[in-house]
Amino acid sequence: MNKKKFCPVCAVKKLVNKSRVSQCSERGYDNGVAMTPPMGWSSWNLFRNKISEELIKEIADAMKDSGLAEAGYVYVNIDDCWQASTRDENGRLRCDKVTFPSGIKALSEYVNARGLKLGIYSSNGTLTCEDYPASLRHEREDADTFAQWGVEYFKYDFCHNEKISSEAPKIASIGFSAEGSGKDFIVLRPSDLTLHGRARIVEDEDTEFGAYIAGIDARLGSVSAEIQVPESGEYIMTITVRKGGLKEKFLRLMVNGKDEYHIYCPGTKAWSTEGRIQTAVKLDEGENRIELSNPIGSVMDSAAVQYKLMGRELKRATKEYAEKNGVEEKPIVFSICEWGVNKPWKWGMEAGNLWRTTMDIKPHWISVLGLYEFTVRLHKYAAPGSWNDPDMLEVGNGDLTFEENRSHFSLWCMLCAPLILGNDVRKFIKADGSIDTDNKIYQILTNRDMIAIDQDPLGVQCRRIKTGKVDVLVKPLQGSRAAVCVLNKSGKPDGTHIELGKLANLGYVNLKKKSGYTVYDVWEKRTAENASVINAVAEPHGVKVYIVE
Ligand code: GLA
Repeated sequence: MNKKKFCPVCAVKKLVNKSRVSQCSERGYDNGVAMTPPMGWSSWNLFRNKISEELIKEIADAMKDSGLAEAGYVYVNIDDCWQASTRDENGRLRCDKVTFPSGIKALSEYVNARGLKLGIYSSNGTLTCEDYPASLRHEREDADTFAQWGVEYFKYDFCHNEKISSEAPKIASIGFSAEGSGKDFIVLRPSDLTLHGRARIVEDEDTEFGAYIAGIDARLGSVSAEIQVPESGEYIMTITVRKGGLKEKFLRLMVNGKDEYHIYCPGTKAWSTEGRIQTAVKLDEGENRIELSNPIGSVMDSAAVQYKLMGRELKRATKEYAEKNGVEEKPIVFSICEWGVNKPWKWGMEAGNLWRTTMDIKPHWISVLGLYEFTVRLHKYAAPGSWNDPDMLEVGNGDLTFEENRSHFSLWCMLCAPLILGNDVRKFIKADGSIDTDNKIYQILTNRDMIAIDQDPLGVQCRRIKTGKVDVLVKPLQGSRAAVCVLNKSGKPDGTHIELGKLANLGYVNLKKKSGYTVYDVWEKRTAENASVINAVAEPHGVKVYIVE
């Protein structure tokens, strides 16, 4: 008989999988906005720390007067450096009162009056990248502040981030009390808790009940209990921990599988063997299920948990603000900016609307090409409401040539990337107040066909079907059409030959199989009827873009 060989790796895997803490089922971020890639402008690429209320107002005016707003660029995003260097006396973020004298709410009203929406910035860290107060562990109050200001786009950076500990405190007991009652009316000892995965009871006479729970670190286990409360409301949950170790520890509490609380337990140098951590918890009348675990098995888990927390707070804050004030909700587009280091394409769709895939863009061709090369591979993660973000546009900045500017814009549209301008749009308005339609950068940014490719309601990112000196990208469009982009990465004119019938065979493309296609050249604005091939030649670092039907 063929004896099965013992596989130690498989045994370990089985054990770990079994003991994995079950995650609450989450689908998309689902805040109803950014169903097509967001379009707008941001202060960072060109203006860096030289920003002011006056500049933002001038930009908003120019966005409206130049027709950019009408072309779809609606978000006016203030990036880093808008903050005062300290929070206010209530712990709220506040703007620099010298450069933003009227405050952010007034600015958002100014921007709204022009048919535009205001965006703001913070970091998922103790400070922003430019070292101003930031939002880590201030998620709730900062989300409330942004909602109150009427902000509709929020970029959340990753500077000065602090990883959540993967260690859980040792739980000696759990108590629940009604506020003001002076005593716990429920006390759960270690033996009252249901253990999952590696959770175990360790005897210890230095604890009140002679034992504590261990083994719930790093996604390895959890404890749960069913508790009864007389009425719905807020209760104080006191976790008595067995002290030990200088490192901070972390617990996630899930109530009834839906409400999530983050509980931090400080490292200790204290004399006492036991300490208490308290959290105000909302419970429903009757039975409630509580579950405690530490879901941080990796650095990626830490980033995902932190970004998801901010995402939830933003949704809660805009909803609550609208309900309290009897106004229409203004959902906030949530832009995750952790530079791709923790693979946000794997968890970003649950946390927010878009996620940076790379480090910062620079206004040079090498940078643009590098970000494209990386992001083109991530096509399967883009979908309506959730986008790969290869960073804001540098079109019109630095030393990009005309061809490079046009290619940069075209590639971003093929990638379903957010189109967040980074140039000085005030230049599009002439001294007499008219629009400078001869401005080549303006012409690139307002090419309606190119914008429509980016904004196509199918929301399917292009795939690269050929690569080398010349790349060919194909993106399905609504109505049995496809966008085809030929990118010449070399220093000499170069191109390729594309048989259109073969495009219809690509599984993900919805082109009909037929003998002749209508081919529209998006930059030349020329149409060829009944075509079976495209013979494309592009300038060095240039593109040709077609819509095939
Ligand atoms: C990081 C981000 C940039 C910008 C700056 C601001 O570098 O990636 O896009 O927001 O911070 O300080």
